Amino acid sequence: MRLIRSIKKMYEFSKKAHLEGKTIGFVPTMGYLHQGHLSLIRKARKENDIVVVSIFVNPIQFGPKEDFKKYPRDLKRDMNLAKQVGTDVIFYPDAKDMYPEGFKTYVNVEELSEKLCGKFRPGHFKGVATVVTKLFNIVCPDIAYFGQKDAQQAIIIKRMVADLNIPVKIKVLPIVREKDGLAMSSRNTYLNEKERKDALVLYQALNLAKELIKSGITDTKTIIRKMRQLIEKKKNAKIDYIEIVQMENLKSLKVISDNCLIALAVWIGKTRLIDNIIVNKYEK
Ligand code: PAF
Repeated sequence: MRLIRSIKKMYEFSKKAHLEGKTIGFVPTMGYLHQGHLSLIRKARKENDIVVVSIFVNPIQFGPKEDFKKYPRDLKRDMNLAKQVGTDVIFYPDAKDMYPEGFKTYVNVEELSEKLCGKFRPGHFKGVATVVTKLFNIVCPDIAYFGQKDAQQAIIIKRMVADLNIPVKIKVLPIVREKDGLAMSSRNTYLNEKERKDALVLYQALNLAKELIKSGITDTKTIIRKMRQLIEKKKNAKIDYIEIVQMENLKSLKVISDNCLIALAVWIGKTRLIDNIIVNKYEK
């Protein structure tokens, strides 16, 4: 496995691979890899000749009061894990090279970026869309892999790739959960023992929604109210949002429809967690 820090070297590596007729699968990450990331890398390994994983804690997707500084970082640990699942190249650029002095160009996917998490994290998705565009231009992948856990991010990136004719296929893979149901996230490392237990309430609320829908309730207001009541039983939980939306455009739904997204963001103590499920009203 190679570690490439230089943007130029990364680009040249990819160009050569393409000239040799090889396909590149790409998994963009901010590091501190967990089983969710590893499932993306494994899939990329199965489907491509070369697997590139980027590790870059992207400063422009963090708000001024967010956790950029304390975001967990451990390159050695990540390299070990990435190697075990068959990564060929770790791309590990420097922020100064990604955003040199004079940097002025951003990618913004309108409307979709202002909904759900966008309401609470202004500028976040602009930062994500910009860095992902840059990474696509540097790594030149055939297929890029994202997790369903960041559902809004995946929808925004699919839109961006379609709108800007970026020649990359986007694949979104299912959420990987801990045994008890907590969605895997690098931010789970912030939780203390009590918070870790309380964090389960996100998954429980999503399951409650599923049960309510199964029992025939289709009014989204009722479902959201019951989810809210369940979460608010936890003293250290603070809800940013619970929303039931249409998958493609993230528009709020009054009534459950096929393949709708139930998404929520909840603070457990000082840690902001997100989770979601896709529900089909005919699912039994
Ligand atoms: O999902 C993430 O880890 C990040 O948002 C991404 C896609 C690597 C961009 O920084």
